[in-house]
Amino acid sequence: MMKNNVVIRGLGRYAPEKVLTNADLEKIVETSDEWIVTRTGIKERHIVEEGQFTSDLGTEAAKMALADAGMDADEITHIIVGTFTPDHLVPSCACIIEKKLGIKNKVAFDIAAACTGFIYSLEMGRAMLALHPDAKILCIGAEMVTHRVNFTDRTTCVLFGDGAGAAVLTNDGEGPELLDVKLATDGNLGSLLTVSGGGSASTYKPGETIRDDYFIQLQGREVFKHAVRSMATICEEILEANGLTKKNVDVLLPHQANWRIIDAVGRKFDIAPEKVYSNIDRFGNTSAASVPLALSEAVETGFIKDGDLVMLTAFGGGFTWGSALLKF
Ligand SMILES: CC(C)(COP(=O)(O)OP(=O)(O)OC[C@H]1O[C@@H](n2cnc3c(N)ncnc32)[C@H](O)[C@@H]1OP(=O)(O)O)[C@@H](O)C(=O)NCCC(=O)NCCS
Repeated sequence: MMKNNVVIRGLGRYAPEKVLTNADLEKIVETSDEWIVTRTGIKERHIVEEGQFTSDLGTEAAKMALADAGMDADEITHIIVGTFTPDHLVPSCACIIEKKLGIKNKVAFDIAAACTGFIYSLEMGRAMLALHPDAKILCIGAEMVTHRVNFTDRTTCVLFGDGAGAAVLTNDGEGPELLDVKLATDGNLGSLLTVSGGGSASTYKPGETIRDDYFIQLQGREVFKHAVRSMATICEEILEANGLTKKNVDVLLPHQANWRIIDAVGRKFDIAPEKVYSNIDRFGNTSAASVPLALSEAVETGFIKDGDLVMLTAFGGGFTWGSALLKF
């Protein structure tokens, strides 16, 4: 297999300024701060302002990652965006971000892997760098999840928020090394977590009102179980494939879906709670944005230090799941 040393040259993140607290949600649906905090760990989430879209969040995160990398936008050769809430089906969110960054003639496309979208984009970035060693890749996870949330359904509307995170990948320069990525899917379980309305198998006729299927539908308990099992398993697999063990891991940074899921993955994985990064209390589940948003924050705040072996992991609709190993 072709080996190259992929480094993360820069990281960035963006969350809209507007905050929706649990107290705000208490006024919208029959819920309580106490229920939300004990069942999920979420206290508040950021949500878009009127006129702000997924591409705006992704563009801001990309700009921060470029500044962190000390690079001009025009040096970028590829833009890969993990999202299930693109501004439009066509053009892709990646194409719109290219335009908003003021650049053109790049390679830009979206990846549909739900909450695992950013980990998938890292693998696509690695593949592009193997084919094109001089490439400079922007991997982005960007979501306006609240656009697909039914704010009359208390079982889902308390869980999600909007945001974005980005990373610049290259084969040269300074930065943590992307040692490996591992991905998996099981389409047989797809019906447990869906956003089907508007797709070719669930069309809307002109004038029809939107149905529940337009919004996120999930079977919480089932998703919970699979999420814990899949993330813990793929973390074991990536370590084994790299001749490493749990003891080598300095920081575990899982997808921020529910504090109890994060905690359970940490326990299954037998890692000390203080080595597990979480910001779910402030952002909720931002889907594909959650891992890069948390990673950028964890590096900036010093939670992740030079020399650390960091394991990312995510799980999402599809089902999709994955993990990545970074050496700082
Ligand atoms: C959704 C989730 C938080 C629910 O937690 P849970 O402990 O499984 O709770 P349950 O769904 O069993 O609901 C327990 C009770 O709380 C009620 N409830 C659900 N949402 C509520 C809310 N926001 N406020 C108050 N009560 C609520 C339920 O109606 C149920 O009441 P009942 O016992 O009278 O029927 C949890 O299952 C989860 O996080 N699942 C995965 C989330 C996910 O899919 N994320 C996206 C993919 S990564």
